[in-house]
Amino acid sequence: ERESTVSITVVGASGDLAKKKIFPALFALYYEDCLPKHFTIFGYARSKMTDAELRTMVSRTLTCRIDKRENCNEKMEQFLKRCFYHSGQYDSEDNFAELDKKLREHEAGRLSNRLFYLSIPPNIFIEVVKSASNSASSKNGWTRVIVEKPFGRDSDSSAALTNGLKQYLEEDQIFRIDHYLGKELVENLSILRFSNLVFEPLWSRQYIRNVQLIFSEDFGTEGRGGYFDSYGIIRDIMQNHLLQILALFAMETPVSLDAEDIRNEKVKVLRSMRPLQLEDVVVGQYKSHTKGGVKYPGYTDDKTVPSGSLTPTFAAAALFIDNARWDGVPFLMKAGKALHTKRAEIRVQFRHVPGNLYKRTFGTDLDRATNELVIRVQPDEAIYLKINNKIPGLGMRLDRSNLNLLYSSRYSKEIPDAYERLLLDAIEGERRLFIRSDELDAAWELFTPLLKELEEKKIAPELYPYGSRGPVGAHYLAAKYNVRWGDLS
Ligand code: BG6
Repeated sequence: ERESTVSITVVGASGDLAKKKIFPALFALYYEDCLPKHFTIFGYARSKMTDAELRTMVSRTLTCRIDKRENCNEKMEQFLKRCFYHSGQYDSEDNFAELDKKLREHEAGRLSNRLFYLSIPPNIFIEVVKSASNSASSKNGWTRVIVEKPFGRDSDSSAALTNGLKQYLEEDQIFRIDHYLGKELVENLSILRFSNLVFEPLWSRQYIRNVQLIFSEDFGTEGRGGYFDSYGIIRDIMQNHLLQILALFAMETPVSLDAEDIRNEKVKVLRSMRPLQLEDVVVGQYKSHTKGGVKYPGYTDDKTVPSGSLTPTFAAAALFIDNARWDGVPFLMKAGKALHTKRAEIRVQFRHVPGNLYKRTFGTDLDRATNELVIRVQPDEAIYLKINNKIPGLGMRLDRSNLNLLYSSRYSKEIPDAYERLLLDAIEGERRLFIRSDELDAAWELFTPLLKELEEKKIAPELYPYGSRGPVGAHYLAAKYNVRWGDLS
């Protein structure tokens, strides 16, 4: 059989994402012997750079989990020898034809497979895809393109982008990344639910009171204000990362583990969701705050953010899935920048035990005595279940304790970065963790009317101090549905 080769071209090679995530992930895959035997990596961007300069740039940022290991330097040298650079314009078919020539030299007559990673702003996606597919697509193997969000800013712009891409690519060549799907604990959600009898039968309105999807960061948008201001936290985190987790969490059992079967189920969840109401959303924006003598800037203090900007850096929302399994169960989302902590987690609060024998022991606060399953996506990955337990001793006092699966104590192997998983999947043609176009449409359909309304009515965000727990409005929203945020109680 003819040997094959994979060429990976990182378009926008000098950008932040390429430096921080893509090259380190490729190196980690190389280190773990996960890349095919014959592979070449090309950086492509407008700036002039030699291969040696690219290698220096890449080596400076290989600050991935691997670089603490022995023989890392040696491996890095070998890896860098397989990295090259080509400078070209994004809309130039000639420049991509030059790239094609170089790729062919490296492929040396082997079967050619080509992966393009578009690490560039979406306004130039189409021109790059056009030039790359006309001049540099593989003639005898596969050509795949990875694209990063933002996939537009509403239904219309997203559809325009999809149509543009589809002029040059088939749907199965497009790999839309949502890097949250590559996180270990997000991937594990299905295993947790579908292969554990103690969870699977409980996964419905009958036993679950509410589900909370929480994302918080303890830093602001410093340095990214320009990008962030035209998107805001709802587009940046909720419409993609949190909604994807929700779809995976709530889907019906797929027919198989095949990508299309899984994505079919996710789309069904998204399409069963009730339109979002403005009353079910709280928006916030961080303001400056001085703590311990340090002054932390407010969102609008950033020079790249227009003064008086109403862009939310925090949002909380109550969502509902109007199907038989989830009817009436609130799915609460909360996402914010410049909060008191950095964390992403899923919290599942269960109902009361009917006729609980120990009711009296709990006093009036029965809510505090319900089980809660927490899946901590990051940091310090963990899955724990809050249960009621007798405090040892002669009396009869109960408390809530955790059955705790802490990854760092249970597993000695480090957890790969999400980009490693996803890049490997793209190379192997595994589409399970990538977003299909109908999923994307459904996600935008859910959020677009709300986003329009927020913007048209110029809804002012509730200000919260940098480093705080966010606006109190989020508590009122939860309370309206009889919910207490698990991360705060
Ligand atoms: C990105 C957002 O998609 O995810 C950023 O654009 C955010 O605003 C980032 O900081 C968070 O990713 P992670 O993997 O660091 O939690």
